[in-house]
Amino acid sequence: MSAFVVLGAQWGDEGKGKMTDYLAEEAEVVVRFQGGNNAGHTVEVEDKQYKLHLIPSGILHDEKLNVIGNGVVVDPKALFTEIDYLEGLGVKVTPEKLIVSDRAHLIMPYHITLDKLKEKARGKNDIGTTCKGIGPCYTDKFERSGIRVCDLINKEVFEEKLRSNLEAKNKYITQVLGGEALDFEEIHREYSKYAEKIAPFVQDTSVVVYNKIKEDKNVLFEGAQGAMLDIDYGTYPFVTSSHPGANGVSEGAGIGPLYIKEAIGIIKAYTTRVGSGPFPTELNDATGDLIRERGHEYGTVTERPRRTGWFDAVVVNQSRRMSSLTGISLMLLDVMSGFDTIKICKAYKLDGKEIYGLPATVKDIERCEPVYEELPGWKEDITHVKSFEELPVNCQNYIRKIEELVHCPVRMFSVGPDREQTVVLKDIKF
Ligand code: GDP
Ligand code: IMO
Ligand code: MG
Repeated sequence: MSAFVVLGAQWGDEGKGKMTDYLAEEAEVVVRFQGGNNAGHTVEVEDKQYKLHLIPSGILHDEKLNVIGNGVVVDPKALFTEIDYLEGLGVKVTPEKLIVSDRAHLIMPYHITLDKLKEKARGKNDIGTTCKGIGPCYTDKFERSGIRVCDLINKEVFEEKLRSNLEAKNKYITQVLGGEALDFEEIHREYSKYAEKIAPFVQDTSVVVYNKIKEDKNVLFEGAQGAMLDIDYGTYPFVTSSHPGANGVSEGAGIGPLYIKEAIGIIKAYTTRVGSGPFPTELNDATGDLIRERGHEYGTVTERPRRTGWFDAVVVNQSRRMSSLTGISLMLLDVMSGFDTIKICKAYKLDGKEIYGLPATVKDIERCEPVYEELPGWKEDITHVKSFEELPVNCQNYIRKIEELVHCPVRMFSVGPDREQTVVLKDIKF
């Protein structure tokens, strides 16, 4: 068995793109299993920066097969924009390197309109979505009216489904949300072009991935978002509409859960979040600003400043439980250089009691007070460090403390955005 999962164990933007690209060296197949172009995965290779949204980060390697699984919601416009962007940077994207599930649901223009109008209607209670149509597309999937990739490439089916969906959506958009109706002909014309373009990429990806696993090929599953944005176990309703953890792999890639050998939780050495919702260790002060500036914490998709805070072991423990994490990859460790002391949250206090998991309601999470342990910091620049032993002792102690509090070994750490700025502690072997 040779299937690995790389997943975000906080609120997203942990550095999944960088680690997927790094581990993809050893993999033959890289699979996205959930989310859509709400993701923004940055990969830096030899001073060149690539921003990926929908296409797996394995695409930067030649001769890897990249898979967009059935659990992903696909905006075809975003897909072909990304293909053009990559080709412009010299990265080949052919049907030999990329396949798309016939069962993946399509993001339609009305999903994007609905996402924006619903956010507006929520007013001060908005979720802060990326407005890419993710929630409305998954809503249609589970309501059983969605349009899938296999429908797009069948002219009659597509026309009929588009007509009936658009009629219902336009009523809702105009009569309930006060928006403007969308034009059938315009969408039909645009999507018919995508149908032709996407056809060569379409396959039953579940069978392809299963066969690769059976042939004992290395398969890497790349999560998008983070486990705290999980639709069930995240900070609901301030979440995304899928399962970003290892718990989403079998559903979103169409393979059984017992094939997964390892699940690597990607975490930052601190915590960030974009969009609204509770964030117990958030720092609304100069320290938070300093972390934002040092870590360049601005969203890849929306360019919004990310909210910043101290490392939260309660969050990572919850992710470890949900995804059976077998290891941690600790990212952006270099950003923590320069502090006199560093705080780390080991539990929450709620109603006078210490708790170690997130409560179900936003109200209760907002009442949680972080219980901190304070550790001495370090001042040295660590961006050129190549081993654990080269790290300042206080930094080594910080890593050991994280391992102790999250009950999981740190298998790798990262001291800069480049592929080369990665240190492997305990071998990760496919
Ligand atoms: P993802 O969504 O999980 O793939 O993460 P993003 O790409 O949205 O955000 C992570 C950011 O941190 C990117 O700009 C990366 O280039 C950058 N990055 C990744 N690892 C490191 C690191 O160890 N140090 C620093 N300074 N930046 C890093
Ligand atoms: P990557 O893969 C961080 C957040 C949005 C919002 C909530 C719901 O780059 O880590 P959505 O558009 O999904 O309905 O928005 O989820 N969000 C992310 N936050 N990283 C991401 O992806 C995110 N994708 C969605 O900001 O709070
Ligand atoms: Mg991101």
